[in-house]
Amino acid sequence: MIFDQAARQRIVEDLDSSFAVDAGAGTGKTTLLIDRLAAVLLQAEIPLSRVAAITFTDKAAGELVERLRQKLEKALAEGDPAETLKRRKLVLRALKDLEQAPVSTIHSFCSSILREYPVEAGIDPQFKVLDQVQADAFEAQTWDDWLKATLLNPVEALIPFLNLGGSLAQMEKVKTFLLRHRALVVRPAVPEEPSATRLIIQLKAFARSIPQTLTACKNPEDKFFEQLVSFKKQWDALAASSLSGDAVRLSLLELPKPKAGTKANWDEKTLTQARGETAQVGEAHQFFAALMFCDVTPSAGSQDTIGIK
Ligand SMILES: Nc1ncnc2c1ncn2[C@@H]1O[C@H](COP(=O)(O)OP(=O)(O)OP(=O)(O)O)[C@@H](O)[C@H]1O
Ligand SMILES: [Mg+2]
Repeated sequence: MIFDQAARQRIVEDLDSSFAVDAGAGTGKTTLLIDRLAAVLLQAEIPLSRVAAITFTDKAAGELVERLRQKLEKALAEGDPAETLKRRKLVLRALKDLEQAPVSTIHSFCSSILREYPVEAGIDPQFKVLDQVQADAFEAQTWDDWLKATLLNPVEALIPFLNLGGSLAQMEKVKTFLLRHRALVVRPAVPEEPSATRLIIQLKAFARSIPQTLTACKNPEDKFFEQLVSFKKQWDALAASSLSGDAVRLSLLELPKPKAGTKANWDEKTLTQARGETAQVGEAHQFFAALMFCDVTPSAGSQDTIGIK
């Protein structure tokens, strides 16, 4: 018996609860999803047209449909004689519905809803969905146009940023972050306004842990090692300056990249932990920097009261 058999069983049998399943490769996630789907169709008797199964890729959607078909065909072939006619009908209906099964990628699922309700969504029903190549080109062009216009006539938040030596590469990083978190820009107010104080506390703890982390590296030419050293230097310089809590200066810090460096140079446990912390603090920092360019500018008001030493 598999040690997590009870959890597996719940996933298939408890149809009234929602589950998030996080498990390693090849451990049976898709199998359970199919089993649950089959239970929804055959036990709960919900027609396939009322199910939305969403995947990230077309390939995964194809796999899901194919494996569901196999499961249903097996159920049909193995159906014991005592099986009711009703159940057989359910299986047959599901197999028939499979042709138009709403198993799709998030992109096509969203476009089908938008195409059905263009008026409510306020969009042209003839809209086209860009593929990744077109989307990348569109993004590059839009960024280029914005940059040209904005550098001639900078928005307010940008002036101190540029004056303090903020680079185009840093702006581009912010742009990429904002694109990934578009909701921040669209929504008039963010649920939780990031404060300089909180970021400073996080960065301070991170900087303080760096010397200890560095002792776990055998090669001082390791990229992650170098980036940690460089961040520590920037931090110490900022801590020593009178502008220590200044929002723009905070946003200009270059944080280490969590994936930099080579595993072989490190004590594995320390590296894993340091990478995790780097990713976490990096995300908080990006979030803070990104908001400099939104309507909600992080308050720099705390600069008089908090030092970062
Ligand atoms: N409870 C189980 N006992 C034994 N074998 C199982 C069990 N569940 C699934 N398998 C088998 O393990 C293999 C992988 O299953 P499955 O494709 O469902 O895993 P997955 O977690 O979705 O994998 P991936 O990470 O590749 O998407 C399949 O051959 C499947 O038949
Ligand atoms: Mg799978």
